[in-house]
Amino acid sequence: MAYVDVARLDEIPSDRGLRVQVNGIDLGLYRMGDRVYAMEDDCPHAGFPLSEGEFRDCVIVCKAHGWPFDVRTGFDPDNPDGFPIPCFAVRIVDGRIQVDPDDRINDPQRP
Ligand code: FES
Repeated sequence: MAYVDVARLDEIPSDRGLRVQVNGIDLGLYRMGDRVYAMEDDCPHAGFPLSEGEFRDCVIVCKAHGWPFDVRTGFDPDNPDGFPIPCFAVRIVDGRIQVDPDDRINDPQRP
């Protein structure tokens, strides 16, 4: 595992995500109180940046066509049998957000 420093906690808005890039992966960071979640940022429908959508109650709604995704799990809350968007391990160290792009926390292949 190798955590990468990506942003300050206070850079993440409360009503949308913050787009960052880690090792070539575009991620959206989402803040819920003092917890932060990291999810791949390209919408699986047509590739729009999810982080530009409206974020509320754990769910980001894509600005392009309205598909919703729970940032804690990567799943569409209306379709839990679908494929999740990859989500990654996050830690906060001294107010800095760190993401491990090698630690996908919702990998269906993960034991
Ligand atoms: S690009 Fe996201 S819902 Fe269409």
